[in-house]
Amino acid sequence: MIASSPMQKRGAQHERWLSLVEHINRKVVGQPEAAKRYARAILAGEMGLTRKGRPRSFLIKLGPTGTGKTSMTVAASELLYGTDAIIRLNMAEFQEKRDLARLLGENRNDNGYLGDELDRLRKAGGHMLLVDEIEKAHKDIANVFLGMEGATVTMANGKTYYLDDIHCIVTSNLGSADAMEMGNLPYALVAEHIEQEAMTHFRPEVWARFTDKIVFRGLTYRVQEQIARDMLTDEARFQSARLGREIVIGDGVFRFIVAQGFHETLGARPMRNTVEYHVRAGIVEKILECLAEKGIELPKDWESEESQALLKAIVQTLPGSKLRLELVGQELKIRTE
Ligand SMILES: Nc1ncnc2c1ncn2[C@@H]1O[C@H](COP(=O)(O)OP(=O)(O)OP(=O)(O)O)[C@@H](O)[C@H]1O
Ligand SMILES: [Mg+2]
Repeated sequence: MIASSPMQKRGAQHERWLSLVEHINRKVVGQPEAAKRYARAILAGEMGLTRKGRPRSFLIKLGPTGTGKTSMTVAASELLYGTDAIIRLNMAEFQEKRDLARLLGENRNDNGYLGDELDRLRKAGGHMLLVDEIEKAHKDIANVFLGMEGATVTMANGKTYYLDDIHCIVTSNLGSADAMEMGNLPYALVAEHIEQEAMTHFRPEVWARFTDKIVFRGLTYRVQEQIARDMLTDEARFQSARLGREIVIGDGVFRFIVAQGFHETLGARPMRNTVEYHVRAGIVEKILECLAEKGIELPKDWESEESQALLKAIVQTLPGSKLRLELVGQELKIRTE
């Protein structure tokens, strides 16, 4: 008998390849063109169609904040290689020249953060290196990634890593200032405009090195509505499992969340916070009510399994079968039914 590995659980390779576009479109709403382009670029690398001695792919994702650039990278990596089999570098944490030593190591005994992460990636069976917000990096640090001509990187301890089996995904907001006003224009026009704007920030030889440029558009009201619906359903499902009791979403909740969470320029970022805050606040109030009524003594280590079981037991004492999330004034409250 063949032992089941995480690989097998994620389905056969060809199934993962075939479902990649659909998978990322489900996770990242309203970016069908970017999803298709991204999936094709990644699969070209996976199938060995890209040049030897270079990274499997070397892509830049452009577009306004909160539109799915990071999430799409993570979603694809999860499907292809499994959870956490990805290196995520946020360049906002590498803005100073001295951060270079943290990245590549300080001395002969130091493999650096990147070296350690590459070791972890190999062990996890992943092939994706995400370099987020490249414009924030110190220029020497940006050059480690942008200058990856030979697909190698050497750490302070002398250890060289070959990156020819790696997809290097760079993301940036450069050139995206006008993206929201272009909300209803055809994708090709938006993409061309953002690419033109962004390329002025890079040296021409660096710009030419990207095997593909993938533009994300600003998120319209309609798209943000769909995202709100998905997030609300997800959060209710997550909390239902946590509490051991089904949570249904009552009338008015969805409209309230969309009205609170829609944002012109910040994309879907505020929506996630809005959903999480209001749903959780409603649950917190209900639990506090239960605790006050019953005077239950809680253990100190609230994270333990027993505590979580106790939480479920407290919720079980509520009458009815379902918990209904309802809008009361400007707050979400839990009603039992
Ligand atoms: N198109 C989308 N569909 C669904 N969720 C989205 C979408 N865009 C963003 N989100 C949600 O918004 C949050 C931020 O998304 P993400 O980090 O992917 O944005 P980004 O484009 O990388 O932004 P930044 O330019 O600031 O790095 C995440 O919680 C993500 O789930
Ligand atoms: Mg991002």
